[in-house]
Amino acid sequence: MANGDFGLSNEAAIIKSGIREIFTPHIPVDEISHFFGREDEATRLVSVINSPGQHILLYGDRGVGKTSLAKTTCKVILQRLQRGLFFEKRCDSGDSFSSIFEEALEASGVDLSFKEEVHTHNDGGGAGLNAGIVKASVSSKRETKTTSAPNFKPESPSWVANQLKGLSGIMLIDEADAIALDSDKKKIAELIKLLSDNNSNFKIIVVGIATTGEELTAGHPSVERCLKEVSLQRMCDDDLKKLILNGMHRLSLIPDNDVVDKIVDISAGFPHFTHLISLKCGEAAIINKNKHVTVDVLKSALNEAVKDSEGALQRMLESTLRALNTPQEYKLLLLTASYCNTPEFRSAELRDKLMSKFGVEVDSKALSRRLTKLTQGEKTTILHKPARGCFQFTDPRMPSFLKMALNSDDNEL
Ligand SMILES: Nc1ncnc2c1ncn2[C@@H]1O[C@H](COP(=O)(O)OP(=O)(O)O)[C@@H](O)[C@H]1O
Ligand SMILES: [Mg+2]
Repeated sequence: MANGDFGLSNEAAIIKSGIREIFTPHIPVDEISHFFGREDEATRLVSVINSPGQHILLYGDRGVGKTSLAKTTCKVILQRLQRGLFFEKRCDSGDSFSSIFEEALEASGVDLSFKEEVHTHNDGGGAGLNAGIVKASVSSKRETKTTSAPNFKPESPSWVANQLKGLSGIMLIDEADAIALDSDKKKIAELIKLLSDNNSNFKIIVVGIATTGEELTAGHPSVERCLKEVSLQRMCDDDLKKLILNGMHRLSLIPDNDVVDKIVDISAGFPHFTHLISLKCGEAAIINKNKHVTVDVLKSALNEAVKDSEGALQRMLESTLRALNTPQEYKLLLLTASYCNTPEFRSAELRDKLMSKFGVEVDSKALSRRLTKLTQGEKTTILHKPARGCFQFTDPRMPSFLKMALNSDDNEL
């Protein structure tokens, strides 16, 4: 073949190594052997799910590990503590209250495909109809025509609660932030309240991107007592380190200490980036048939990781830089901002960081002007101002992405 083998031999080596089952940047973890840290949060989830009348609301930033925590915990509970059904619904903007519970309703015996039936029978026949069906009879001398419509109310929380309360198991409602209507979010909260009042063994975990739990229940007032909120923060550096070392060890790879530290630093508590960079480093090492993962391997792995990153992050950086006259200056400014330790930073802090990290001195007024420029635009901008004089990345994953994408300018590497 003139163009080589399209990378097939490399792919074969990578697949054989099993690395893509160990480092999974795009798939939530649901195996305890792949799950790191989160002891406190997992313990709380287990205890709440096993407390009568209590349900869970799990929220946090995108990519912080919400789905992994919820799925792994559910699996542990259902395997080791109690048998029961497991339902998982990933919501999107097309979902409504009734579509979310379809699968659980069917498991409870409701046949939602059943719409309407017309029965014709002789007078006095009293055809046996299923429970839950309304009759409308039209009598004639010899014949009765009965139109039956199922008495289904999948849009009613009390009707759904009545159907589901007898089930035993857990339902994970993931990406609840995508549900378009607040009225549907309120209905989920109402259903949870009703299941709790009935002391049902059917437990619900609502998961979504939010900064407060209220955003996911649309502020339903009386659900607080039975819906325990767990806010999931970023993972700690020690647990990210364990994730890298454990995975590398399973692959018989030996990463340099500097490589491990750099991956942890770039990840900034987001396990997605830890998996992504470790995967790219490991793949390069496997292709090179070299067990040692060096800083040079990391450099090329970061370029690959950028290509594999979410399009939204890439587009945001590209469109920001394209609109500026001096993109190089702004690149340095953004990279420095990604090294600020707190999510919110002030222009003075950034000025000090520019000096200490890159030896660059800038006028404070000019710096403020530039930062403000990065918050202005018709569409979503790369930075926003949470308060006067404060700046913050609009997407909390952006600092990690910048450290990967702008790594060639980063003299630390
Ligand atoms: N506790 C954990 N241990 C190891 N990897 C994790 C853990 N939590 C999340 N991950 C990994 O991080 C990435 C994002 O996790 P995910 O659960 O999908 O986040 P979220 O649901 O918050 O967007 C996935 O690649 C997943 O494999
Ligand atoms: Mg998720």
